[in-house]
Amino acid sequence: MAIPEEVINEIKYRNDIETVMAPYVDLKRRGKNLVGLCPFHNEKTPSFTVYPENGSFYCFGCGVGGDVFTFTGLIENLDYIDSVRLLAEKSGIVLDENKYDNSMQKLKNTIYDINRETARFFHSYLMSEGGKWALDYLVGRGLSVSTIKHFGLGAAPDSWDALINHLKSKGFSIADMYQANVIGKSSSGKYYDRFRRRVMFPIINVRGNVVAFSGRAMPGDDKAGGKYVNTADTPVYKKSDNLFGMNFAKKDCAERIILVEGNMDVVSLHQAGFSNTVAALGTAFTPEQAKLLTKYTKEIVLMLDADAAGQKAMKRAGEILKNTGLKVRVVLVPDGKDPDEYIKKNGAARFSALLDGAVSEIEYKLLTAAADINTESDDGRLKYLSAAAEILADTPDVITRDIYIGRLSDKYGVSRTALESKIKDIRKGKIKEKEKKEFREIVNPTYKRDEVNPEKRQFPKAAAAEESIIAILLKHQDLIGFTADNLPSDKMITSLNKRIYSLILEAFFDGRDFDFSYISQFLSAAETGYLVSLQNSSTGDKNAKAELGDCIKILNSENDAKSLNGAKNMPTEEWADNLANIIKNKTKGNF
Ligand code: CTP
Ligand code: MN
Repeated sequence: MAIPEEVINEIKYRNDIETVMAPYVDLKRRGKNLVGLCPFHNEKTPSFTVYPENGSFYCFGCGVGGDVFTFTGLIENLDYIDSVRLLAEKSGIVLDENKYDNSMQKLKNTIYDINRETARFFHSYLMSEGGKWALDYLVGRGLSVSTIKHFGLGAAPDSWDALINHLKSKGFSIADMYQANVIGKSSSGKYYDRFRRRVMFPIINVRGNVVAFSGRAMPGDDKAGGKYVNTADTPVYKKSDNLFGMNFAKKDCAERIILVEGNMDVVSLHQAGFSNTVAALGTAFTPEQAKLLTKYTKEIVLMLDADAAGQKAMKRAGEILKNTGLKVRVVLVPDGKDPDEYIKKNGAARFSALLDGAVSEIEYKLLTAAADINTESDDGRLKYLSAAAEILADTPDVITRDIYIGRLSDKYGVSRTALESKIKDIRKGKIKEKEKKEFREIVNPTYKRDEVNPEKRQFPKAAAAEESIIAILLKHQDLIGFTADNLPSDKMITSLNKRIYSLILEAFFDGRDFDFSYISQFLSAAETGYLVSLQNSSTGDKNAKAELGDCIKILNSENDAKSLNGAKNMPTEEWADNLANIIKNKTKGNF
């Protein structure tokens, strides 16, 4: 980043973490740390921990963590640089940003330019003779040319280098194209267009910048890398923070937003006049996306495909939205259709009626629970009422519970008191279970770490060594040079740790102090939390250098094991080469 370390340190020094957090979190002292109820998720027992010693925090419940800047960013919904600005302002520090060479901002601007040019390229290809196959497809799916233009839809030609050549001719460098993730790199080091023979949906953020792409394969082509190819996270794009269609929806969504699953659903509903529709970009719906929605609207209508995946997605989205204060209603699209098919077949008026019939989330759950139970029999009724009690026990609002208890008791002829006491029992059990779980997480924080780094399951030994190395380097920056000499970053096996380690090395080679508030720009809140939890673990408190050496050894032998494993499927010559390489590296280094 741009702002020099001394200035960042000064801002940090003048904004001590306890004071910054005070308006948002009620903190109590526990030993040398402070604890409180986490402002980022709902909890009853405090697992939000602040370490005044090094100005960091970590929540053992939801895994977020960082420093004052990360905290400010999360709580005020700002990006890193804006939280630095805010805290600078609060403490009376004047930032003269023109003075700083803003290389990160420069890179971001270049990526925006590349994305815009790429969107233009795909769009004009779609409209040209060569893109007829794609235009026919889109028009065949009922889209008008004006909708296609409105969304800036495009097509990627069936070529490995058409986009590279075009962007080159516009003066962009390969390195920047790669950062924008519009091109990929093969294992032999050759660059290629990531999107080939696909219909392209540009993803545009609320500020109107093209931040990413979603490319849909032609029917029958699905073998070519999956139905969708999407832009991975880049310096300008975090999938979990964006919603497809939000750039248009934001103008027409004060009352409600319709949340659907597919890009096609969004385009098609906008065309039919429902421009308050957005989609979650294929990721499971995230808390960040929920937060974005709360900025713009009061109510969410979850519109779900009728399949099992749709039901599951709804459950998850419902859970997340529950914590936002937004009103949530649910519609199940009838006849196993998705919203796009439904509106094409039944028209906008029927669709509108469907929307009006959206029911509350509880009602929806109560309805679906009844779906495969025969409530005519006593047995069935009992079964249904137990399921219903479970659902109501999950409903925090006592009045809402009361209303449904009344309805159920009328409808199924059981007494209110019986239902009430059943629900009360379930709630008691649930609260205990939750407390137990939170306790387990506090006692055993690695639980969250494994979630942040799912590859740990596949490479437990390597990941444990990687975590120790990172923990040690966070605490003993004087050992970074030694580690850099003995452990190139491609020896890190799990990709999250490789990314973090590369950032550590990058800071070292740039001559910067390694500061996780800087690298947290490149990490999600949970990943930053993971770093903080490593920094505050006891790893490397004693004999750091010896432990570091051991871990490097472990990683080297895990790498050998990994390549030998891969070698089983290799042609003989390659295998011999590979073995020679392993031996060569062994004799070269210290380990
Ligand atoms: N998705 C994805 N990768 C996949 C499949 C789906 O990223 N392999 C995401 C896309 O954002 C897609 C959404 O999940 O829009 C919903 O998937 P699906 O219903 O399969 O896609 P639709 O966009 O509805 O596609 P279509 O109607 O063209 O079949
Ligand atoms: Mn669809």
